[in-house]
Amino acid sequence: MTADKKFSGFNRREFAAAAAAMGASLAFSARAAHASKRAWKERRDLYPQGVASGDPDSGSVILWTRCPPATGNTAPKLTVEVAEDDAFRKVVATAAALPLADNDWTVRVLAAGLKPATTYWYRFTDAHGMGSRIGRTRTAPADDDSRPVNFAFVSCQDQNTGYNNAYRRMLYDDRNKPEAEQLGFVLHLGDFFYELVWYPEDRTKPYYNRKIRDVVRYPTGQKIADYHIPVDLADYRAAYKGYLADPDLADARANWPFICMWDNHEFSWRGFQGLTIDTKDIVGAQTRKVAATQAWFEYQPARVAKAGDPDWNRYDAPKVADADIKAFDVYSLVQEPNNLAAINALRTYRHLKWGKNVDLLLTDNRSFRSYFVLNDDGTNGMETPKFLDLVPQEIVEILDAGKAYGGGHPPDTIAFGDKQFPNFRKDKDPQSILGKEQKAWFLEQLRASKATWKIWGNSQGSLNARLDMKNLPAEFGTWPGKDYGMFWLDDWAGFRHEQGEILDFVKDNGITGLTSVCGDRHASLAGLLSKSLPPQAYEPVALEFVGTSISSPGTVEVYEVIVHDKEPLHALLMRRPPGAPSEPMVNFSILHGVKASLTYDKTGDLKQALAQSNPEVAPHLAFVDLGAHGYSAVRASADRLETTFVSIPNPAERSTTDDGGPVTYRIRFRANIWQPGETPKLEQEVVEGVVPFPV
Ligand SMILES: [Fe+2]
Repeated sequence: MTADKKFSGFNRREFAAAAAAMGASLAFSARAAHASKRAWKERRDLYPQGVASGDPDSGSVILWTRCPPATGNTAPKLTVEVAEDDAFRKVVATAAALPLADNDWTVRVLAAGLKPATTYWYRFTDAHGMGSRIGRTRTAPADDDSRPVNFAFVSCQDQNTGYNNAYRRMLYDDRNKPEAEQLGFVLHLGDFFYELVWYPEDRTKPYYNRKIRDVVRYPTGQKIADYHIPVDLADYRAAYKGYLADPDLADARANWPFICMWDNHEFSWRGFQGLTIDTKDIVGAQTRKVAATQAWFEYQPARVAKAGDPDWNRYDAPKVADADIKAFDVYSLVQEPNNLAAINALRTYRHLKWGKNVDLLLTDNRSFRSYFVLNDDGTNGMETPKFLDLVPQEIVEILDAGKAYGGGHPPDTIAFGDKQFPNFRKDKDPQSILGKEQKAWFLEQLRASKATWKIWGNSQGSLNARLDMKNLPAEFGTWPGKDYGMFWLDDWAGFRHEQGEILDFVKDNGITGLTSVCGDRHASLAGLLSKSLPPQAYEPVALEFVGTSISSPGTVEVYEVIVHDKEPLHALLMRRPPGAPSEPMVNFSILHGVKASLTYDKTGDLKQALAQSNPEVAPHLAFVDLGAHGYSAVRASADRLETTFVSIPNPAERSTTDDGGPVTYRIRFRANIWQPGETPKLEQEVVEGVVPFPV
């Protein structure tokens, strides 16, 4: 083995090729550490978006900064130094880095030849000794290392209406832990920013209980109703620049390596493939998809393969036009050249590894997914305004599975109340989130993984949340469906056929330790994944933790404003006892069913309410809080996995304290690794504070 191969199994030449493929230059550590000889004076103003690192493996990590020219248009020549100490007395790698206008003055450097499971510090310096802030990062453990892996997962930071107190809290919590327990990385599951932006002057009324902040102004932009959306590359870049000016986010990026996957808002709130629905109709948005992709590539250091020239100084955006979509098969990948070029501009789904215990599989849930069938005009007439707009579970299942429903025997019509609607999906393919190629990749990674825990970085949740509407007393009217009404249908909860396919594969191949960690719902849920729920078979084969938003408003916050006592079913969502804080009954209803919530509303007696709990509603759910904000932390060891939800109050204002403000509760879930054929089990413990009454 050569010296170069000592730590990572790669040599310099291989790292140079890897760096080029991901649009980075190379800083290779081959010699003994030495003290920095560079003059360096911190000038954060010259590096306005700070520093970041991303996608570590056991021998390398990508380092990032942005340094626009102070005057004129000439690129500052930067040097990056990587050291084993924050005083840079033990510098192990140095390289040149050249920010260029083509990349919006961002740079990516692959620091390689590093030791596994080691903390490093890095900084960028220009030719005049003017330096970036110092960043800290950490490599992954070596393949044969069985130490526990600690990481956080986060999602949904809406700086237009909130603050990043959760990052401040995470930084504080981590600082106060011994090194072996500190976070090795932060997994960001998307909605890094919200592309739909209000300017304060356009919306003087509050957004629920939030004030509109002035965080992003689009150079071009398009105004729709009272909000603005990005339309070109300069706009998407402006979103990253606006968000990264936040000190809490900037400190977090400088303190841990981030592993990022986009969700919808990095492109368009109703975007899928290279298309979107800005108003009512599906429109080709391939130019926006490419612009969003390029900006993501420029601002999120990630081990992804870009299309086109491997030169690290360039991002060759594919030339696309917004394609006519009249010849569009809405239920599968749109085989149109502009669409295919846009979604293949960057492959972001990927696999990363932390020693023996963690394989991290990240899926791209937006670029290949089919059109969401419940938006189809064929569902007109199946609305349930008297029943909280929930959709009958059997209708979701019929429409989702299409021609595959019932083992290939879909019904011709769909019953809804006393009406029959044509099954407009009976000849169509099932809905897909992953698309054919990515799904094949994902299943193969799962099958081949030898890690104790297969962590699925999954921007969207699966855990079904449903109410047993069949049990509503007659005074509320007759539920037009069969048994259950469903929440959250445009994520895995409504793409049940594909979810079932994945869970069947897991079961059939005896795959254990699958743990899906998710974002997107602005809610915290913990539980087990089963292909079906009662009255069908309940056979859990995996764990899932949906982490709540860093700051985006969640359901309970919305209910506080929009659910009124005159709404007949308000007791299922929100209860307002006189002179006491309101109670988020929605959590209770999802866990225990409608009778339990209605009993509680009448009696105020939890014991009587729990006596009415329906054990069939949610055997798969351990915990639900639709009112949380915060972050989630995972510790994955050789025999067990622990996930802690750290919940903070509504971050409508920036915390003024160094700890990020109070913690409302910490709840920890534990699962032992299970054997093939065994059923995973979750235990839980409230370790601080009080979970919201009455879960
Ligand atoms: Fe979100």
